[in-house]
Amino acid sequence: MQIHVVENYEKMSELAANYFAEVISEKPNCVIGLATGSTPVGMYSLLGKKCTEEGLDFSEVRSVNLDEYYPISPENEQSYRYFMNKNLFDKTNIDKANTNVPDGTAKDVDAFCREYEAKIDAMGGIDIQILGIGRNGHIGFNEPDSYLVPFTHLTALTESTIEANSRFFESEADVPKHALTMGIQSVFKARRIVILASGADKAEAVRDMLKGNISTACPASLLCLHPDVIFICDKDAYSLV
Ligand code: PGA
Repeated sequence: MQIHVVENYEKMSELAANYFAEVISEKPNCVIGLATGSTPVGMYSLLGKKCTEEGLDFSEVRSVNLDEYYPISPENEQSYRYFMNKNLFDKTNIDKANTNVPDGTAKDVDAFCREYEAKIDAMGGIDIQILGIGRNGHIGFNEPDSYLVPFTHLTALTESTIEANSRFFESEADVPKHALTMGIQSVFKARRIVILASGADKAEAVRDMLKGNISTACPASLLCLHPDVIFICDKDAYSLV
């Protein structure tokens, strides 16, 4: 794992945006793996600027998102589809037909999960995947547990994730209790993974990822087994390593 410790959130976002821009410039029809949450917002905003001001062309780029609440409609302002449109897709010239976010309205969940996984494979895998890390060490909605489900699946959110995400909802009771998420094996299909962490509230998760055992109790620690991971974090997030 390559580790970059930078001054702050802005520097982290800049470096991450540069890695993505490089892949998009070199391979215009690349597949980018995307994440939601507050961590990648700065990077998405910079990629939007690179598109509108510097001509970075997203017209052939294809994307696949890690996860989505379940059940939720794409029009719901808390859905990850809505988040992606607002924070990235509407700021670039990406063709929305080429963007994939798990379907929070899927009726046959098992069939949907199989199709999503097959779609990633049919696209030729992911060229570069962005990840945040949860305060409990989750990636996507792969929550700490005694075992992990390798491929795209429906999962129950842990209390700590529901509490962390309640800041985006009117109350904790409004946070969906389930989500569709790519599994660890799906994430590992990415040829390159860029993982970001910012702020002191991520320091324990970062320490467990880098300094603990490789364990499903900290799903992010499994990334140490992937051959091309770039970890970019600010000083606060790195403070316990
Ligand atoms: P955050 O979430 O970016 O909102 O902190 C990260 C995550 O839970 O993966």
